Amino acid sequence: MTEIWPAAVAAAEMVESGMVVGLGTGRAASMFVRALAERIKAGLQIRGVPTSKRTEELAHKLGVPLVPLDEIDGVDIDFDGADEVSPDLDLIKGHGGALVRERVVASFSSRFVILVGSEKLVTELGTRVAVPVEVVPFGVPVARRELESIGRAVRLRCEGEIPYRTDNGNAILEVTFGSIGDPAELDRRIDRVPGVVDNGLFVGMADLVLVQSDSGVERLERGKP
Ligand code: A5P
Repeated sequence: MTEIWPAAVAAAEMVESGMVVGLGTGRAASMFVRALAERIKAGLQIRGVPTSKRTEELAHKLGVPLVPLDEIDGVDIDFDGADEVSPDLDLIKGHGGALVRERVVASFSSRFVILVGSEKLVTELGTRVAVPVEVVPFGVPVARRELESIGRAVRLRCEGEIPYRTDNGNAILEVTFGSIGDPAELDRRIDRVPGVVDNGLFVGMADLVLVQSDSGVERLERGKP
């Protein structure tokens, strides 16, 4: 049987009938979709907005109703995972390659809730993982040089020998920075690189982080110590 974290069950319990719900991508977000599907079986009525083809397929398989973005005026609440969470609740996301659609849905949402294991909490962003940067394939050689001058190392994400492609048909450059002192400034700097579509720094976006550890579920809320 597929594992479902108590944090994912707690997240699904935040959803009310009639809501439009953002469905993130990755392991934690999939657990949330499974927990939500259980509530739908018990009568909850919602419409979901998936952030990737993978999540869309999972939602179809589990009977979670979906709605296209052009048929709604906003998303009530969006649930997603993250690769790093700072004490200010800034994030690195996108190791599942869905960062562009994840940002689109999160920025259209009234509330953005993150589910992570406690190993994802860091004192400074950039210390655990690289920042994924989505780049149009034509621009990769140029963006790569520019990003090499900003970061410590740049790697083109591949699947075997073949460059990885996102749901949007783009490439991902993984940029290692080490400690990121000013994520907002770095976010702006990366986005100015020609050919860059978006990057995995999500600054000032998360409202609530549900942290799963062996000892239970911890709630980290923006603006609360
Ligand atoms: C997908 O592109 C990502 O942003 C994921 O949400 C993130 O990588 C966390 O994924 P896991 O929950 O699988 O660790």
